[in-house]
Amino acid sequence: MSSLKWWQTAVFYQIYPRSFADGNGDGIGDFKGIIEKLDYLADLGVDALWLSPHFPSPNWDCGYDISDYCNVAPEYGTLDDFKTFLDESHKRNIRVILDLVLNHTSDEHEWFVESKSSRDNPKADWYVWADTPPNNWQSCFDGDAWTYVPERDQYYYHYFMKQQPDLNWHNPEVKKAMWDAVRFWLDLGVDGYRLDAIGTIYEDPNLTPHNVPMNLAELRRFSDLAKTPTELKLKDKYWHDMFKNQWGQAGLHGLMKELRAVLDEYDGDRMLVGEDDNIDYMGNGKDELHLVFNFPLMRTEHITPEHVRKNQKERLKRLDILPAETGWPCNTLGNHDCSRIHTRYGDKLHDAELARLNAALVLTMKGTPFLYNGEEIGMTDYMLTDISHVKDTMGTWYYHSIVTIMGVHPEEAMLRTAEMTRDKNRTPMQWSNNSNAGFSPASVTTWLPLNPNYKDGVNVTDQERSPYSLLNYYKHLLRVRKNTPALIQGAYVPVHAAAKDYFAFLRVSEAQKILVILNFSNKRLELDFSRVKEIKSHTLHTLFSSADHSQKEQDLKAMSVNPFEVYIAEVKSIHA
Ligand code: GLC
Repeated sequence: MSSLKWWQTAVFYQIYPRSFADGNGDGIGDFKGIIEKLDYLADLGVDALWLSPHFPSPNWDCGYDISDYCNVAPEYGTLDDFKTFLDESHKRNIRVILDLVLNHTSDEHEWFVESKSSRDNPKADWYVWADTPPNNWQSCFDGDAWTYVPERDQYYYHYFMKQQPDLNWHNPEVKKAMWDAVRFWLDLGVDGYRLDAIGTIYEDPNLTPHNVPMNLAELRRFSDLAKTPTELKLKDKYWHDMFKNQWGQAGLHGLMKELRAVLDEYDGDRMLVGEDDNIDYMGNGKDELHLVFNFPLMRTEHITPEHVRKNQKERLKRLDILPAETGWPCNTLGNHDCSRIHTRYGDKLHDAELARLNAALVLTMKGTPFLYNGEEIGMTDYMLTDISHVKDTMGTWYYHSIVTIMGVHPEEAMLRTAEMTRDKNRTPMQWSNNSNAGFSPASVTTWLPLNPNYKDGVNVTDQERSPYSLLNYYKHLLRVRKNTPALIQGAYVPVHAAAKDYFAFLRVSEAQKILVILNFSNKRLELDFSRVKEIKSHTLHTLFSSADHSQKEQDLKAMSVNPFEVYIAEVKSIHA
């Protein structure tokens, strides 16, 4: 295992600072709160934290609109609080990576304030300006991608909200300023960065218009109403075509190389993980990103054995081209931008069982797992019912667009908004069954409403007390993973590759062979693994069973697996 880097053996846990823990009782999460929960995280067994943006921000996009890259949002604390957090995390052997938003700043960032002030100020060319809107490009959050500024009598480009102007990455001064900010946190000792939305950094230099016969609000509405296979296919095509000239453009490899070189100035194996699934951004395995996310795994309505097998085949084939030690996968099923695992991949009948299977999947597949805060207690999406509670501005923008421009009834508009807004998966962490779920004091109004299911066992304190809770299941699995080298470094070998009900695979290292069986069906299975060439004439020594298999040793020939069971065993030679 020693040849692997820390970011290959680690389990990452994403903290959404606004919603994790409120240490000063103002209804908003903060560093004091996070620091108080570090023992919880150490006990859970995670090794690294990805912190969503903690920088000063007017919060048009919940911190992803940064107004100062070298400071801490006052509602989260001070720079000293950050340093204490970093220090206390490191003391517990927990690494910390930050979120780095390169594509855009806030429109309140001093760079933009200066840039927009005139056509000839020193930062006039730091953003993307045009005399008239050069095309019909849309912002993926709020309509037209070009917004007028009277001071310059010009328009600036923004892929996201108009409060998030795109930086002009062709300007070397922009790079220098941003690399300085990158160094600022590396100097303080952070272990790396998650790179936000890198695909959107460069645009088509020919500014080619899109050819979709509608604007963003109409496309969202079209997507909401699409039902037939043709409509659903068209919807995907339209989304792709509307934005294809605004992301994934040439130039990014060079930029990622430059950023990697900045990181490599530092000791301690600082790392970069890109919010992108394109393995090309790992360069030659040593000169661009360390990791990119396996997003295709989560781009599905249902996690099925066939889907996962196909996904693994495609991803690992691509990664195999890179040097063995760096062609490393990175798996996740949830983050702050999408429906929560428990809701999204449930079937409304076996949600709890499926949540356990999916957790086991991410923790046993080859690659670095990323967990999202709250998934370990089975937090679910919470549908807001009142537009005044919506904090995700792309939600409020959509609501108002369809109510005022398209005349959609407010009730229906609210339902659609609740589904599309990311607030549903960002509600405060549920620590206990006390008022406000122990996130904030009872008397406080939390920044987003709490999901009331904290009163029904979906909270940390209740689950800590209950041996069979999801939380204890995660802890157990994380321990098994840590103590089973092949689960971390072993090669992936699918077995019974035609099975529809279950996903079975081996993780094979020189010293150890592990068999994982994930029964995605509600059937009891009798399986025979005695003909699998890698493991015949072996016996199974149970390491983990969600069904509490009482027998430690199982017969390869007649392996019985309970409905929805997760079974992990070491495969041992009979003669050993
Ligand atoms: C990324 C973030 C998302 C944000 C967007 C714009 O996709 O994950 O939350 O809204 O970038 O910064």
